[in-house]
Order: sequence, then structure tokens, then C-alpha cells
Amino acid sequence: MEVIITSDYDEMSVVAARIIRRQIIRKPNSVLGLATGGTPLGTYKELIRMHREEGLDFSKVTTFNLDEYLGLPPSHDQSYNYFMQENLFKHININPANVHVPNGMAEDIDGYCTWYENEIRKAGGIDLQLLGIGSDGHIAFNEPGSSLGSRTRLKTLAESTIKDNARFFARENDVPRFAITMGVGTILEAREILLIANGEKKAAVCAEFIEGPVTARVTASALQLHPRVYVVLDEAAASKLEHADYYRWVQQEKQKLSGIASQVSFLRRPVAKK
Ligand code: GLP
Repeated sequence: MEVIITSDYDEMSVVAARIIRRQIIRKPNSVLGLATGGTPLGTYKELIRMHREEGLDFSKVTTFNLDEYLGLPPSHDQSYNYFMQENLFKHININPANVHVPNGMAEDIDGYCTWYENEIRKAGGIDLQLLGIGSDGHIAFNEPGSSLGSRTRLKTLAESTIKDNARFFARENDVPRFAITMGVGTILEAREILLIANGEKKAAVCAEFIEGPVTARVTASALQLHPRVYVVLDEAAASKLEHADYYRWVQQEKQKLSGIASQVSFLRRPVAKK
């Protein structure tokens, strides 16, 4: 894992967007895995800016979203489909035919999940998967206890997740109890993974998944088994890491190496304050 500690949410967002931009420039027909939640909003904002001001081209990009609430149609303002349209897709030049968000209204759920997995395969697999993390350590909706080899399927949300996500709904009771979600095994097949987290509320879980044991209790810990993972944190989310100084040292030293320096320096260019 490459742990990149940034000063605040804005810098975390810009660094994450630069990693995504690099992927799109390197391979214009990239397949991106995308996430929802409060955390990636700044990253999406920066990608929209890159599209408008720098001409970052999404026309050949394909996307697959991680998850969707069961029972919410795309028109529902709390569906992840709606979230993605509002916060990214309608602001960039992506071809709607290349966008995939799981269908929360699917009737044959098992059949639909197999279809979703096949679509990812047919597209050539995910090049770069963006992830947030739930306060219980989940990635997508892979709640504690999910198999680390799991595939796209129906999951029952944990009570803590329902409480966390209630802030987006009028009442806690309105939060759906189920979701269709990529599995941990599906996520681990992405060629590169980028997990972002910010705020003190995520500090304990970040220490657990980065430095603790690989365990289904914290499904993000499975990322330790993946060879190419970037974890971009702000200071607050990094505050409980035992080896934070080492991660900072790695970033500093890497910049001194010619060759590699050109790979990492784009991440560390100062981020203009808004
Ligand atoms: C939801 C999503 C996750 C997301 C998590 C954290 O449960 N299924 O993909 O990472 O929320 O959300 P936030 O970024 O709002 O903290």
C-alpha cells in the first residue's frame, strides 16, 4: 500500500483526482470503478474542473459503480445512480452508454448480479477502482463478516451503516436495509485501487485496515493483499496510524529518486488553497 498523507480534505481530493487523471491520460478508454458517499465529492468536483479547464476527456471512459440501495429507482434523490448523475456524470463528456450503476430495482437479483460481473469482465476489467470506507471498515457495502472472496450480490446493511447514512434521508427509517454491492473479491480484481478517507471519525478504522490484521471484520483490510493500492488520507484520518512518520518519509524519499520522482511528483505538487 502506498499511504499518502495530505493536509486536509481539499488536498486529499486533488491528489485523488490527479491519480484518476493520470489513469485516463495513460489509457483514454480506461475502465473506472466509482464510489459514492460524502468523501469522493471533492474528488469529483476536481475531475469536473479538470474536464472544463484542462479538457480532461471522458468520452472513451467506461465506469462501474460499486453499489446501489435495493428498492430505490434511479430517479430517487438518495439513489446512488442519482448521486452519480448529479455530482459527476452530467458535468463531464462521458457517454451514458458506458456508465454502469447497479440497478436497485432488479427483480431477479442473483441473475442481475451475475450480469453485472459479466459486464465488468466484458469491458476488460476495472483499471482503477475508487473507494471510500465506512466507519465499520466496509468497502462498497461489504459489511463486517463479508467473505473476502465475495462477488456482486445482495447485502443486508449493518445497523451502524444505516445510522451513518441516515444523514442523507429525511428519517432513519427511510434508509434502505439492503443493497446490491460488488464483492470484496470483485474489488480486489481491479488493476489499481485508490481509497480515500478524511476526518477524525475515520482515524481508528484507517489504522485498523492499514496496519491491523487482514480480517473479514474490517473488509477494507483485504486491500493489504492487493499489489497496487493508493490510500490518500487527510491528517485527521491519518492521526491514529502507528507508522505515519514512515509513510511521510517514503513520500519524501521517493521524490528524490530520479525516474520515480516523475511518477510521484505530480501527486505532491502544491495544491492551491481555495
Ligand atoms: C456508503 C458506501 C461506501 C462509502 C461509505 C462511506 O456506505 N456504500 O461506498 O465508502 O458509505 O461514506 P462517506 O464517504 O459518506 O463517509
